[in-house]
Amino acid sequence: MHEWWRNAVVYQIYPRSFQDSNGDGIGDIPGIVSRLDYLAELGIDAIWLSPVYKSPGIDNGYDIADYQAIDPQFGTMADMDELIAEAGKRNIRIIMDLVVNHTSDQHEWFKQSRRSRSNPYRDYYIWRDGKNGVAPNSMQSTFSGSAWQEDSRTGQYYLHLFSAGQPDLNWANPKVRQAIYRMMNFWLDKGIGGFRMDVIDLIGKDPDHEIRENGPHLHDYLQEMNAATFGRGDFMTVGETWGATPSIAQKYSDPSRHELSMVFQFEAMQLDQEPGKEKWDTRPLQFDQLKAVLNKWQTQLDYRAGWNSLFWNNHDLPRIVSRWGDDGRCRVASAQMFAILLHLMRGTPYIYQGEEIGMTNCPVKSIAEVDDIESVNMYNERLAAGEAPAALIAAINKVGRDNARTPMQWADVPAAGFTSGQPWLHVNQNYHKINVAAAMAAPDSVYATYKQLIKLRHDEPIITNGDYEPIDSVPEAVMAYYRTYQKTRWLVVANLANAEATINLPDEIEKVLITNYSAVPATLINATLAPYQAFAVAVR
Ligand code: GLC
Ligand code: CA
Repeated sequence: MHEWWRNAVVYQIYPRSFQDSNGDGIGDIPGIVSRLDYLAELGIDAIWLSPVYKSPGIDNGYDIADYQAIDPQFGTMADMDELIAEAGKRNIRIIMDLVVNHTSDQHEWFKQSRRSRSNPYRDYYIWRDGKNGVAPNSMQSTFSGSAWQEDSRTGQYYLHLFSAGQPDLNWANPKVRQAIYRMMNFWLDKGIGGFRMDVIDLIGKDPDHEIRENGPHLHDYLQEMNAATFGRGDFMTVGETWGATPSIAQKYSDPSRHELSMVFQFEAMQLDQEPGKEKWDTRPLQFDQLKAVLNKWQTQLDYRAGWNSLFWNNHDLPRIVSRWGDDGRCRVASAQMFAILLHLMRGTPYIYQGEEIGMTNCPVKSIAEVDDIESVNMYNERLAAGEAPAALIAAINKVGRDNARTPMQWADVPAAGFTSGQPWLHVNQNYHKINVAAAMAAPDSVYATYKQLIKLRHDEPIITNGDYEPIDSVPEAVMAYYRTYQKTRWLVVANLANAEATINLPDEIEKVLITNYSAVPATLINATLAPYQAFAVAVR
């Protein structure tokens, strides 16, 4: 198996917050072009570009009004072509965000659709009659409240699994599917590297039976899409699949089924959520659960019949170093520990902008400072239900999406070098210390670790192809595993806690591959690990 994405490292860009080029405070495509040399130096192979299409922006671009136009805030189609070309010169492919579970309510299809029950576009969306003056059923929106919106023009309700400004497309309609495939081919013909597929597990939904994820026709649609579009070339496709299990992941990504290259699933990232409650209702992370889930995915998704993504962060998640590490005194060591632990596993790693310099969460004091629609809707809903504002702000500071969306911190200059104007969202004030310029100048920075890990993956086939074997005989706060390929055996050890731990392993160290402390223990017999210490060594 030789597909390029198997040993690739992907870097996610959230365009609004990456680099502004014209002083309007909003990151844009020319800004990204100006930073390509930085990304080439880091060593990444592909950019997952969050949406830059024409959009009213109520969900920051995940509400698309025109799939084949660039939003003027981000630039022009000529800028986009230049980005693809300039990235290509640096061997970086552009992975476009494909948001086709829903459109914006400003999309021409929806404007037509809502006009009358007999409009030719009516069936592009999901319309139902209400039941005695209320919504057709009890389906809920991910962004709070009912998933059904009554539309006065025709008296029917339309389905929106996200906000009312994001009506769900009707994938059961073959015309919808063909229109989407044409649009996908437009982008593939431009020379992009593939697609990241937003909430793709929802497209097979069965609203009348309240089935959201993994609906009955999901995999038929993906096979049809593959045959009609990217199946013709060496493209990378990654499906956002919140609730996948290893066996569901295999359905998406077994090469013989001709669906997607890989899944992007969140089982580990939901471990600090109270079971049966919402993402806002958190509990402390249990190390044994994190280890069990990571090990499960490494051992149960057979690499010959499936492929997984490796990530700690994206634009929907809080920053890992604040979430499960230490964003204070041990920020650097804990950020490096998470990187080493994850990047030596099998799968395709994703780095979310700023992760490579250990950017942290950015707490706010009041709801007025919050931009994210999900956070704002939750706040209003729970406030109305009688919850205390302070507790809601605390929840937003812990897991709200704006934590990941504050501007990229380039240097210790005004607005962190993100813009010469007024940034659309506040800059984290720790930019004086945490910034790209400082990280690139320090040999032991988080940046240096990421750069080294990317190079290791490109140089050492054991990371992509080696067997994986979890090690059980370590303390609860330590995660350790072996990778084995031909005659080579690597041991990876990570102390997840802000406390010393002792390990006792029989292996003899042959060579140090990477470490976040200046030295690794001389022997692994009764070896003491420092807080957040992590390393990989070749062993005999
Ligand atoms: C995905 C995106 C998220 C967006 C949602 C609706 O989960 O990652 O940012 O709000 O889909 O498109
Ligand atoms: Ca701009």
